[in-house]
Amino acid sequence: DFTPTPEDKFSFGLWTVGWQGVDVFGGEVRPVLDPAAAVHKLRELGAYGITFHDNDVFPFGSTAAERDAHLKPFRAALEETGLKVPMVTTNLFSHPVFRDGGFTNNDRDVRRYAIRKTADQLDLAAELGAETFVAWGGREGAESGAAKDVRAALDRYKEAFDILGSYALEQGYDIRFAIEPKPNEPRGDILLPTIGHALAFIESLEHSERVGLNPEVGHEEMAGLNYAHGIAQALWHGKLFHADLNGQNGPRYDQDLRFGAGNARGAFWTVDVLEHGGYDGPRHFDFKPPRTEDMDGVWASAAGCMRNYLILRAKVRAFRNDPEVQQALLDARLDQLAQPTLAAGENLATLRAEDFDPEEAGRRGMAFEQLDQLAIEHLYGTR
Ligand code: GCO
Ligand code: MN
Ligand code: MN
Ligand code: MN
Repeated sequence: DFTPTPEDKFSFGLWTVGWQGVDVFGGEVRPVLDPAAAVHKLRELGAYGITFHDNDVFPFGSTAAERDAHLKPFRAALEETGLKVPMVTTNLFSHPVFRDGGFTNNDRDVRRYAIRKTADQLDLAAELGAETFVAWGGREGAESGAAKDVRAALDRYKEAFDILGSYALEQGYDIRFAIEPKPNEPRGDILLPTIGHALAFIESLEHSERVGLNPEVGHEEMAGLNYAHGIAQALWHGKLFHADLNGQNGPRYDQDLRFGAGNARGAFWTVDVLEHGGYDGPRHFDFKPPRTEDMDGVWASAAGCMRNYLILRAKVRAFRNDPEVQQALLDARLDQLAQPTLAAGENLATLRAEDFDPEEAGRRGMAFEQLDQLAIEHLYGTR
């Protein structure tokens, strides 16, 4: 049975099911989705949480009173349904003022405004009990060479996170920041394009312990990278704070397909890492129901994200519990990989004194194909 329940911790961006289908070549194909209605529908479908940008709920430039008026029915719906807000984020990309980005805009007054806008949203995030504050720097980048001094821009990027991190500490907010890497779109080249770039950047921050990652499946795959490996490394660094799940077919525009569509084999290993790698955060879907769909199609697509996750979860569990797989893992010597290369008390001199026959070792096969065939058969449903 693949029926989602709140225990599965599925969450959705309000901007995903609310996407009206506006793209570079055409206008909206679907009506505005009322945030409160989205909350009720997601609860009905079995979700646990909803996430949002400031301007998904109240328009850009709202006064405090206008903001509260827009938030009122949304808050009421959260209360009625018990749906959580595990993550909140800021829109620093839609308004023309952000044409060259927010935190790294060449214009100093725009950068100051972007930090202010984010701090306001941080206050709201804390008030709603969000654990994670996502920062996707979609407009932080360039289309050309001299227009952006990357080193100066990274100084400004760091400055923004240092200011916001100090503010969160001072306020006693129990919230962590999660940077979302993306290689391109909407900018030609976006700063912090991959998990690896972002991990290195985070180490330079004043409050680096409070800053981690929100990697998205499609974004790593747009860069030709292996998402499951990427989040495994993020976990290794203790930096997988949140995850945007969706589907992508290779390096092309950001497809944001429903989770499980697109690279299905990649999705299998993604769920394996999420389920067995020590991640306990929300399973957050950041997808765009295709423009072909009406609202029924949107909800079918949202339900499909959760159902595909549950199907893959059952498959990766069956894979890990399969005695033939356990034998194949031994044949592939995963148990040896888990052992330190030197035993206690050994050192380089021990290795130098060791007798080793590289010719003999060079004849050994690794038995990975047998192991991978078992995985593929679990995925294809023949085991
Ligand atoms: C994208 C991004 C966004 C962010 C969102 C949260 O490619 O459009 O994935 O959807 O995740 O803005 O900050
Ligand atoms: Mn995306
Ligand atoms: Mn997207
Ligand atoms: Mn995303």
